[in-house]
Amino acid sequence: MELCRSKTELRQLIAAWKREGLRIGFVPTMGALHEGHLSLMRAARQECDRIVVSIYVNPTQFDRKDDLDAYPHDPERDRDLLKTVSCDALFTINNEDMYPDDFSTWVIPEGSLVGGLCGKSRGSHFKGVTTIVTKLFNIVGAHKAFFGQKDYQQFAIIQRMVRDLDIPIEVASCPTVREADGLALSSRNQLLESTHRERSLAIAKSLAWATLSFRAGQKKASLILAEMVKRIEEAGAKVDYIEAVDCESLAPKETLDDQSVIAVAAFFGAVRLIDNHILKDDFPVQFP
Ligand code: PAJ
Repeated sequence: MELCRSKTELRQLIAAWKREGLRIGFVPTMGALHEGHLSLMRAARQECDRIVVSIYVNPTQFDRKDDLDAYPHDPERDRDLLKTVSCDALFTINNEDMYPDDFSTWVIPEGSLVGGLCGKSRGSHFKGVTTIVTKLFNIVGAHKAFFGQKDYQQFAIIQRMVRDLDIPIEVASCPTVREADGLALSSRNQLLESTHRERSLAIAKSLAWATLSFRAGQKKASLILAEMVKRIEEAGAKVDYIEAVDCESLAPKETLDDQSVIAVAAFFGAVRLIDNHILKDDFPVQFP
């Protein structure tokens, strides 16, 4: 695996691969890698000749300094995991090189895609995401980039950005990888206190309950969402949002249908977890 610590180094490597006619897949991450990240790399491996992974904890997408400071990292473990999926190049970079002092150009998403869900509660979060992802796309110059469905809104925004700004890259979304008990894998899970770890299952369970209720004929979003809030609060969490939205526009839905996504964000202690379910998909979690 090549370790590239500068844009120039990475660009030279990619240019050489492109001269050989190789197809390049890209998986952007913030490190603290887990099976969810690795599943994206395996998907990239299936379709591409070379895979590039970036690990960069992007400061501009954090709206709270304590959240940024607490973000887990374990570079050595990450590198070992990358070898297990035959990653060809790892790109890392420091903040000064990514955001020079006089950095002044941002990519800002607007409209219904950012009006709700994490867009409402996390301020300029998506401005940070779209800006860094544009920069990474420009630096890497990959043919295809792979994202997780777990961050549903993030993918919807990136997909729209690629279309709106004519960025020459394909983007794909891959299914959410879960623990055996249903908890969606997240780098933040390791920050959960042990009592909260078990209780946090309320998120996946309430999503499964919502899906079952929808399939049993309940189409009224407000009823389903209210019950989900109750179940997640009973587990001791502070609900940030629970919303039903259209899977493309992310506009709120009052009447649920196959095009609806239910998305949740909730705090267990200081740890904010998110999860979602597209109602037309298989169940997010199977219960014994
Ligand atoms: P990060 O949270 O490290 O996630 C990197 C990628 O892994 C994202 O596409 C995310 O959706 C995906 N992912 C996380 N958990 C997953 C799971 N349980 N199953 C499947 N995929 C999962 O998302 C970011 O970093 C950043 O915002 C980034 C895009 C790198 C820009 O800074």
